Amino acid sequence: MVIRLTARCTQLILALCCILGFCVSESPYNSSFTPDHIRYLKNETTLLFQHAWRSYMTHGFPFDEVRPITCEPYGPDYKDYTNTVRNDAMANISSTLLDNIDTLIIMEQWDDLEFALRYLKENQVDFFNQDAIVQVFETTIRFLGGLLSAHLILTDVIKKDIHLPPSYNRFKQIGENYDGFLLDMAYDLGLRLIPSYKTKTNIPFPRINLKTGLRNVPPNLQKDACTSGVTTPVLEFTLLSRLTGDFQFEYYTQQSFWKIWTSKSALNLMPMSIDPFENKWKDTITGIGASIDSFYEYAAKGAIIFDDDAMWSVFHTSYKALLTHSAQVNHGTMIFPNVGTEDGVIFSDWIDSLGAFWSGLQVLTGHLSHAIQTHIVYLKIWDYFDSIPERWIYAHHNRNKRKKFKADDSIALEWYPLRPEFIESTYYLYRATKDPMYLHIGERILTLFQTKYKAECGFSGIQNIKTGERQNRMETFVMGETLKYLYLLFDDENRVFLHKPELMSSKNWVFSTEAHPLWFHKGLRSGGQNSQFNAYAANLIPDDIADEQFTPEIFRNTTVRQPIMYDIPGHESISHVGKKDPFGDQFDACEMSPLVKSKTGFLESSYYDWPNLFGADFAFSKSLIKPSYANKTNLDDSYIELSRDFFDKFTTFDTQLMSQRMPTTTSYEVFWGDVKDSGFAEVSELTFNGQNETESIILPGDLWVPALQGLRIKVEELTLGSIDSRNLVITKEHILQVQGEVDEDSTIKMVTDTTLRIHRVNGVEVKQGAIVWTLPFQPSPRDRSEIGITKEGRVVIQGKVVENLIVWYG
Ligand SMILES: *[C@@H]1O[C@H](CO)[C@@H](O)[C@H](O)[C@H]1NC(C)=O
Ligand SMILES: *[C@@H]1O[C@H](CO)[C@@H](O)[C@H](O)[C@H]1NC(C)=O
Ligand SMILES: *[C@@H]1O[C@H](CO)[C@@H](O)[C@H](O)[C@H]1NC(C)=O
Ligand SMILES: *[C@@H]1O[C@H](CO)[C@@H](O)[C@H](O)[C@H]1NC(C)=O
Ligand SMILES: *[C@@H]1O[C@H](CO)[C@@H](O)[C@H](O)[C@H]1NC(C)=O
Ligand SMILES: *[C@@H]1O[C@H](CO)[C@@H](O)[C@H](O)[C@H]1NC(C)=O
Repeated sequence: MVIRLTARCTQLILALCCILGFCVSESPYNSSFTPDHIRYLKNETTLLFQHAWRSYMTHGFPFDEVRPITCEPYGPDYKDYTNTVRNDAMANISSTLLDNIDTLIIMEQWDDLEFALRYLKENQVDFFNQDAIVQVFETTIRFLGGLLSAHLILTDVIKKDIHLPPSYNRFKQIGENYDGFLLDMAYDLGLRLIPSYKTKTNIPFPRINLKTGLRNVPPNLQKDACTSGVTTPVLEFTLLSRLTGDFQFEYYTQQSFWKIWTSKSALNLMPMSIDPFENKWKDTITGIGASIDSFYEYAAKGAIIFDDDAMWSVFHTSYKALLTHSAQVNHGTMIFPNVGTEDGVIFSDWIDSLGAFWSGLQVLTGHLSHAIQTHIVYLKIWDYFDSIPERWIYAHHNRNKRKKFKADDSIALEWYPLRPEFIESTYYLYRATKDPMYLHIGERILTLFQTKYKAECGFSGIQNIKTGERQNRMETFVMGETLKYLYLLFDDENRVFLHKPELMSSKNWVFSTEAHPLWFHKGLRSGGQNSQFNAYAANLIPDDIADEQFTPEIFRNTTVRQPIMYDIPGHESISHVGKKDPFGDQFDACEMSPLVKSKTGFLESSYYDWPNLFGADFAFSKSLIKPSYANKTNLDDSYIELSRDFFDKFTTFDTQLMSQRMPTTTSYEVFWGDVKDSGFAEVSELTFNGQNETESIILPGDLWVPALQGLRIKVEELTLGSIDSRNLVITKEHILQVQGEVDEDSTIKMVTDTTLRIHRVNGVEVKQGAIVWTLPFQPSPRDRSEIGITKEGRVVIQGKVVENLIVWYG
């Protein structure tokens, strides 16, 4: 008989030690988030945008950027071609303007838009004929994407028969006067970039000279291509092909995308850097941050735009592999540090600022709980630094208990160039949950832009978070992404065309990785119904290219390694229960918001009901420390989720901020079987199928793991007297109950004060109270002292009984 363990302890909950602080608010609205207040925040964001735009137009234009502190124009470093930080995204092509045409439309800056369009049209001939070496990836996402997006918005949003607010009259008029020249420019730019893909290896070179092509690009700038760089342009280039009818862009970039996907590791993980000359991976590390982030993003977004199941399978396979090998789930938080692609072993003790985009992607792909858990970590980082260090160290291995950590100890790369990813994810989470906490986060960021980040000529990020030193640079994404997402977050009334279902719901649109709205549908295809495009494509495509027949057959290898079916007697012995893929639903349906549950009918935040809201503060306490120049008190207003005003207004119900005690147990991961096979054993969720439910010992959430091989398992070691991760004290009775009667014949020496509990199996969470069932096994003589089974069927490992791993006797 199986005894199910129940939570016996009363919920011993301690009030959080942090006491709420009063917050001094500059806004006349005091965190009310009434429609007026939200409109005010949106207005304020427009003012910030106008400050940046006017600064650029006055002091930067027609150069690429404006330097926000010294008010000088900024462009490529023509003297030092190795200065790639500066040169990769600047080419004397008015970058800031090119990256923001769609931003001007979204923010309804019609005069500025008309000026920008006129300027580009007058200068379009030879606009990109610049003797400058650029990075293909940056140039594609910022400028090619910007041109395509503006072109789509100006031609395919406003329809004659749709009634629009008067504020869109100018939009309509500008659209009517637009003749499609931006697609022309996009095509010119595409032709200048595509030679980088025409390599012997199909792996593109990372850089190209816009005027002279691959010639004159020094080989030492070409050795290192990253996975994002190789795979990401596939989306903009495929769209360029579909809009112009010139197939080469799609052909070459898809070739590279699928070639690189086929070379993933046996664990379905993709390394991050590759040598295009040799076609060889240069590392065996993967993650979700710098160098690989937009690979996953575009697998998912490419699937949406082009209705492409093959792309979806790439996302699906990758996310599952990352959940199995990279995801670290602790105290209600989720992070994805770098891991080895061959062995799945955690490689880094830091996470990237760029990884903050991941929760937005989790929302888009339907993983809402994961998204909240991932986002909360970046929220806490923001609480402490008012920014996110480029690399933040989350784990300190120094075991010296007396060591006093400083802020500097957790900052591995110390700059914050006003990156958009955190606000981007906040926007996605607000659209999905409508929890006012996300508006509150936005308001805090807005305030920082109004005060700390504002410079005389735009906005200046932080060069060194350790010292507070500023950066004299405003990259094009500050307006194009950061301020754009902030503005869209505050568009709660859906006044922006992107939020209007009557204009956009028929389009499978996404934000590009540079926040440019992009979409495609058959009406836009050259040769389709839209005569404007037909005529346009016919004029545009030179005969020699149109005649050149590219074969549309690109080998898209969607084969992935299947779960290993270990040959075990009785494998199919579960007869009266059904089995399903625990990941199955996750990729077929969107999860409902776990936050929305208004009990009163008033607008309220369920954020304070989120279990372990303060888990991250404990889990990462050694890494969450304010820099010495910043306020250290809990009573300033920088702890976003601890603002008194917000709490008072949005928790109408009787909530007290509570925190569980933090566990004193240890948790670790083990691989069972060959590391190369870990993650590939069958793990199914058992479902009851029609028999008498009350008699069944199977409950929802129980898992089926036929073999103890090919598994990556997270276990918690429960030692007498410790507090476990469910906030229970481990008692002698608990241990005795789990151990049951000790078999006298057993060769195993039982450990009397410790049991084990499994939390994750190959990326699948084992829910509280659920059991992992496995088939009976005979340990080999060599293993007989290591592994066994108790009389009650529980598996014993090195003398420690696993409380939720039980043998199925049928
Ligand atoms: C905002 O809140 C503070 C503190 O709760 C209060 O002192 C102040 O009067 C409020 N201001 C407005 C405009 O409501
Ligand atoms: C927003 O700004 C416009 C002018 O730019 C003004 O007419 C309007 O009243 C403002 N709205 C709010 C809510 O502040
Ligand atoms: C920058 O572009 C402008 C306009 O095309 C051109 O006149 C100027 O010579 C370029 N500057 C450099 C350094 O190439
Ligand atoms: C397709 O991909 C699978 C898994 O990565 C690989 O084993 C197989 O060799 C690939 N097929 C071809 C023809 O490249
Ligand atoms: C510290 O907090 C106080 C009170 O909130 C504020 O007046 C002061 O400007 C803050 N200092 C910094 C450096 O943020
Ligand atoms: C299911 O089993 C319970 C307990 O054995 C019994 O009381 C009940 O009548 C059974 N229900 C059905 C539908 O057979």
